Amino acid sequence: MRVLITGSRGQLGRALVDLVRSHGWQLWAYGLPEFDLADVGAVQEAVRTAQPEVIFNAAAFTAVDRAEEEPEAAFTINAKAVATLAGLANEVGALLVHLSTDYVFDGQSQRPYREDDPPNPLSVYGQSKLAGEKAAAQARKHLIVRTSWLFGRGWNFVEAIRKQLLNGAGELRVVGDQRGRPTYAEDLAGALVALVRAGASGVFHIANSGETTWAGFAREIVAQLGFSVPVVDITTEEAGRPAPRPRYSVLDTQKFDSTLKPLPPWQQALARYLRTINR
Ligand SMILES: NC(=O)c1ccc[n+]([C@@H]2O[C@H](COP(=O)([O-])OP(=O)(O)OC[C@H]3O[C@@H](n4cnc5c(N)ncnc54)[C@H](OP(=O)(O)O)[C@@H]3O)[C@@H](O)[C@H]2O)c1
Repeated sequence: MRVLITGSRGQLGRALVDLVRSHGWQLWAYGLPEFDLADVGAVQEAVRTAQPEVIFNAAAFTAVDRAEEEPEAAFTINAKAVATLAGLANEVGALLVHLSTDYVFDGQSQRPYREDDPPNPLSVYGQSKLAGEKAAAQARKHLIVRTSWLFGRGWNFVEAIRKQLLNGAGELRVVGDQRGRPTYAEDLAGALVALVRAGASGVFHIANSGETTWAGFAREIVAQLGFSVPVVDITTEEAGRPAPRPRYSVLDTQKFDSTLKPLPPWQQALARYLRTINR
């Protein structure tokens, strides 16, 4: 299989690169700084050279708060560049595997979000990702995968909590009124590759099993790292972040779970992740 990966140095990108290599597939991996998805010419050259059968677009403008101040940059990477990739996927006959987010939903649901629930993003980031989904759907062969609360090799919530603990924090104040599903990038990468191998297409929700709040996630990180620092729940308003976030963005993964099999519980995935960084 000929595979092209964008965003190869991001959390998901790194996991995908390792997995694709382990399958012995032919890999073209591109990431910043030498490859800028905003550079249409560079993207054209990369795809036309590789002639991939599958394009995993793991690159994205993921700075949710910064996107409020830089909507143009967010839309350029998260939507415009995706349209370019979709056109090129059609040109070379590739499957486009594109990643999206639980933040396309507004959080008003009383039950986990299914793939066909109407999106209504609250933030610029969410709006740019929704525009990206529409662009990716222009590829004749596409897989659009929404995931949530990702952690893997790179900067993420687990690292932010760990850093505070290592800096000697006596107490952690963490948002307790947003619910979602933490997801390990390695597990997500495995799920994406499995979906590709199964010949799947369309929209899927993928996340580790279970759900929690950011404060609940933090408590589990603290416990698994062997600290006894208290985690105090604060409200979204108290946190005062610039970008609005859905209060409830639990993804319903039934479609994926019945196509393949559910991903392991997030607590178990966290334990595997922490073992990799504690080595
Ligand atoms: N992280 C989450 O919690 C989360 C939740 C739901 C969905 N998702 C989605 O899942 C996907 C993977 O996320 P992730 O957490 O792996 O993201 P990530 O760690 O931020 O990785 C994204 C990668 O894209 C790169 N990138 C940014 N702008 C680029 C450009 N102009 N050209 C080429 N590469 C560029 C980044 O490089 P730099 O780091 O150098 O900027 C980074 O290496 C994304 O589509 C994201 O929207 C993420």
